[in-house]
Amino acid sequence: MCGIVGYIGNNDAKEILLKGLEKLEYRGYDSAGIAVKNADGVHVFKEKGRIADLRDNVDETVLSNTGIGHTRWATHGPPSKVNAHPHQSTSERFTLVHNGVIENYSALKREYLEGYTLKSDTDTEIIVLLIEKLVNEGNTVEEAFRSTLKLLKGSYAIALLDNQNDETIFVAKNKSPLLVGLGDDFNVVASDAMAMLQVTDQYVELMDKETVIVTKEKVTIHDLEGNEVSREPYTAELDASDIEKGTYPHYMLKEIDEQPAVMRKIISAYRNDDQELEINQDILSAMNDSDRIYIVAAGTSYHAGLVGKQFIENIAGIPVEVHVASEFSYNMPLLSEKPLFVFISQSGETADSRAVLVQIKELGHKSLTITNVPGSTLSREADYTLLLHAGPEIAVASTKAYTAQIAVLSILADVTARSKGIKPKFDLIHELGIVGTAMEALCEQKEEFEAIARDYLATTRNAFFIGRHLDYYVGLEGALKLKEISYIQAEGFAGGELKHGTIALIEEGTPVIALATQEAVNLGIRGNVKEVAARGANPCIISMKGLQEEDDRFVIPEVNEILTPLISVIPLQLISYYAALHRDCDVDKPRNLAKSVTVE
Ligand code: M6R
Repeated sequence: MCGIVGYIGNNDAKEILLKGLEKLEYRGYDSAGIAVKNADGVHVFKEKGRIADLRDNVDETVLSNTGIGHTRWATHGPPSKVNAHPHQSTSERFTLVHNGVIENYSALKREYLEGYTLKSDTDTEIIVLLIEKLVNEGNTVEEAFRSTLKLLKGSYAIALLDNQNDETIFVAKNKSPLLVGLGDDFNVVASDAMAMLQVTDQYVELMDKETVIVTKEKVTIHDLEGNEVSREPYTAELDASDIEKGTYPHYMLKEIDEQPAVMRKIISAYRNDDQELEINQDILSAMNDSDRIYIVAAGTSYHAGLVGKQFIENIAGIPVEVHVASEFSYNMPLLSEKPLFVFISQSGETADSRAVLVQIKELGHKSLTITNVPGSTLSREADYTLLLHAGPEIAVASTKAYTAQIAVLSILADVTARSKGIKPKFDLIHELGIVGTAMEALCEQKEEFEAIARDYLATTRNAFFIGRHLDYYVGLEGALKLKEISYIQAEGFAGGELKHGTIALIEEGTPVIALATQEAVNLGIRGNVKEVAARGANPCIISMKGLQEEDDRFVIPEVNEILTPLISVIPLQLISYYAALHRDCDVDKPRNLAKSVTVE
């Protein structure tokens, strides 16, 4: 969701900025722009649509060593060239890009900018107008920048160019992610390290409300009071090949195929020299000290949390509640005496989850983040972190992060149980190994899933996913996958729940994808399939070996029953992928969606 890049150095900024923006495309956006500064002034290029459209409109002859760039995911005002960033002040002295949402922008406009005509519908434009106003009133640019930030309520990551200063990019952040990258005689700014990996792997984290002066030789960080802050850089442990598609047509397909390897990576990351699963002792103590765990997450990560609840309750014997992050803040349940909060987030940047983290920290509660991105906001701000080791996930539709989250939650449950003296019912390392092999087998049968997608979903308006127990949770994830990338209206339901209302939507030929991987509820789900079939539905049963019946459309390999979500989701991911292809959808960048949802 929105991305920022900036470059100041000796090379042509345009190309570095455009390449950086291309690397941020995965976050989701609907317009993009760059501003580059040279002796003639600041040149702004922006376009609605893709970076490729922006590229076509950038004047190749404009050379510059300094610039900022932005991908916009519309919040205030529709996607358009006018609303695209960068935005400029009235005299065009200042040029600014911004991620986040300025909650009090209307009030600021009323109070400070009476008589100003805004060109765009954005909340961003007021920031650049305020800076210029304060400079016109006699403040230095730095003073104006800081004073403006103090007025802002909400979230922001900002990069600012001053037409009268060739040497500097002014940078600040609050709640929205932003990094500064260090180079030899150049420095960069980026929403995430991937964007600027092309030029450096050395990054400095920025904290909320800090301001940064970036020149080509130096990066100077100040807190909001103006005190200089020193912080060591870290090396971004990203392999450039991890963020390339290679021979795959889409990142989503590549990431689905990576799942067996991710299972193995997770096993080796959490296995100690004695070949036993191990997690940090402080995390174990926090688990054991808590009387109830509150999992907080959004979207796919929420679905992984539902599965995680089963693991932690059944394996480790600790009660768990799972909450949608965006609801939690104003609908907080009565908390137990010793709660532990577990935030599950692929990106570690989801604003809804972060808002809950801030809230529960104020209440003095402990927190653990399970994330794919070391150094992400949720990881930095929680007491503890467990990493997913899934490698960068670029496709908007989350696939390998979901299975990695489930695998890590299973390890958390298993190691916690052992630490409490609960004898494990199975050898998790062995079982996860079997899962990896089963995943491989599924990934090799893509033509089967392509056929299911063609037969059931190529032209349908809607589809249902049903399952009982763990299959219900996987059904929710299957429905989310299908709707987000193919735009088919899809819903996941507990098998027994359809007849309490939703069965009214079943018509002749309505696809109902049913999962049957749980022995205890096998008869129940098959009864539900009969109910919908009797009303004209076109059922597609995906069962597990050992539970299959004659008309089942696909049978997945047998794995430990509690771990079935790790493999039953793969057919659903692949079916969604092929359905989206059949319907000519942009698989990796579905409309209206962003990879990292950094606004509440
Ligand atoms: O980065 P997070 O895991 O916190 O993101 C949460 C959701 O936005 C995310 O899981 C979303 O639902 C997926 N992209 C769907 O595939």
